[in-house]
Amino acid sequence: MEWIVEDRGEVEVWTIAGEARRNTFSMAMLAGLHAEVARAGGKRNLRCVVLTGQGRKAFCAGADLKERATMSPEQVHRFLRDITGAMRAIEASPKVFVAAVNGVALGGGCELALACDLRLASATAELGLPEVGLGIIPGAGGTQRLPRAIGMARAKDLILTGRRVKAEEAAAIGLVNRVVPPESLMAEALAYATQVAGNAPISLRQAKRAMDEGFGLPIEQAIELENQMYQPCLATKDRNEALRAFAEKRKPVFTGE
Ligand code: COA
Repeated sequence: MEWIVEDRGEVEVWTIAGEARRNTFSMAMLAGLHAEVARAGGKRNLRCVVLTGQGRKAFCAGADLKERATMSPEQVHRFLRDITGAMRAIEASPKVFVAAVNGVALGGGCELALACDLRLASATAELGLPEVGLGIIPGAGGTQRLPRAIGMARAKDLILTGRRVKAEEAAAIGLVNRVVPPESLMAEALAYATQVAGNAPISLRQAKRAMDEGFGLPIEQAIELENQMYQPCLATKDRNEALRAFAEKRKPVFTGE
């Protein structure tokens, strides 16, 4: 089994189940990721996914280099296309993804964390894109998402040296949102996810799209996009519920309608 999926109602926890080989990105693991992201997209009451790796050593050690050595050039091409597609599917998903980085996140593992909306790291985690030291370049969006996440100068520092950063530095440069003790990582990740999940689902989806799709646009177009993303919220029952709840001095109960 490549993924362990734990259903907690509005939140699911997905664990890469490959501790012995440091939760690497194998072809089977990637196929499982595609399937889960597609399933999650259609699950109405799901709002947030916490993505993590088995054990304390690795979130994901990147491409399965042993499997890679056995793959034909065509298989590697297909793998690259599929891994890029999986990252885009996470980004394009109406659900919010939280990476709970429990150990090393290298190469594709770091790119997987980057494709998530929020990143929480154990104090013992390390992140890096070592590809240039392996005769390749980051191939699952790393050269594009890292500069967007932390700025070009910092991204060039990490990608061109291939060095790993510890959790504390990762937080200081904005690569992860928060650092927590290893023993409380999952509790903190669930609390984070639950906080997100308490908001209006259509608002979450629309705000995520506005940020992701607007980021590279000139400001006029970006503001126009924000306005377009706002519109679907106006007609929702959840918006009326929030206004009613405010008047009644209670917490709103959102249904995603
Ligand atoms: N692909 C395939 N197998 C991997 C792997 C990878 N990327 N990373 C680790 N493994 C395997 C090791 O070969 C080892 O297998 P073995 O027990 O059959 O020898 C097992 O996982 C444990 O690895 P080990 O190095 O003993 O564990 P560690 O906890 O001390 O270190 C890493 C873990 C991830 C830091 C280290 O293995 C590493 O640097 N891996 C390469 C990471 C990398 O360069 N990824 C490619 C990105 S493009």
